Amino acid sequence: MDDKKPIGIFDSGYGGLTVLKEIVARLPQYDYIYMGDNARAPYGTRSFETIYEYSLEAVKWFFEQGCPMVILACNTASAKALRNIQQKDLPGLDAEKRVLGVIRPTAEVIGNFSKTHHVGVLGTPGTVQSGSYLIEINKFFPQTIVTQEACPLWVPLIENNEQHSAGADYFIKKHLDNLLAKDPAIDTVLLGCTHYPLLAEKIEAYLPKQIRVVSQGSIVAESLEAYLGRHPEIAIKCATDGNVSFYTTDDSEDFDRHAANFFGKAVKSRHLELAGDMGR
Ligand code: DGL
Repeated sequence: MDDKKPIGIFDSGYGGLTVLKEIVARLPQYDYIYMGDNARAPYGTRSFETIYEYSLEAVKWFFEQGCPMVILACNTASAKALRNIQQKDLPGLDAEKRVLGVIRPTAEVIGNFSKTHHVGVLGTPGTVQSGSYLIEINKFFPQTIVTQEACPLWVPLIENNEQHSAGADYFIKKHLDNLLAKDPAIDTVLLGCTHYPLLAEKIEAYLPKQIRVVSQGSIVAESLEAYLGRHPEIAIKCATDGNVSFYTTDDSEDFDRHAANFFGKAVKSRHLELAGDMGR
């Protein structure tokens, strides 16, 4: 009996698709299930408890689908829920399975992009308040100065497909100006939210030419490849038929209409009702 199952990829909404896109490009042989909790997005302005509760629910759903490994392709969930899930919940749920995030693999390499050793991190309020990037980057690059800027309206603008509007320009410029005012020596800006690659062109246009803008999709994909290489006991449980399926907790037609902007090609999703959605 072939009991190999897909790798689960989770985000609060569409943002994780920018990571999945890079993962599929690098590791096309594996099967993936993507799930976006669009009905409850955005997560970025929600409390620690709420993000933890929603993310845990998602992880349990992926485990019910048999996924041997789940990636929280959402910085907010990685910052606010991952550690608890790994340490408190995973041993009781299934100690053989793995739940990984996107902050650690990004922190492991981001210092290499900077010549000045001054890195700016743009993220949701949840990610910034958690201080996760400050802590994690410091572990790998203690000499690097990290300055953060929370951009609370960027995800709602993107989720509402307003990223090309003049309103988006106003909020993009405002937060980039804030970031550089806090540290003018920054030469590397990390898009610490999986939604932000959709704003990358505008962000680059508003920043001085010498500043490099880094998206994390390809970093996470490379790190996943290395992880599966180091952990054959997990890799052996992952299906390799090259199938990708998509689920959303909101309207699937709506999801399909927007998802292509993030994934780079058309997707066909199915609606899913998470237990906790019922009472919303
Ligand atoms: N894409 C998520 C992240 O990387 C955030 C989205 C949200 O606020 O829901 O942080």
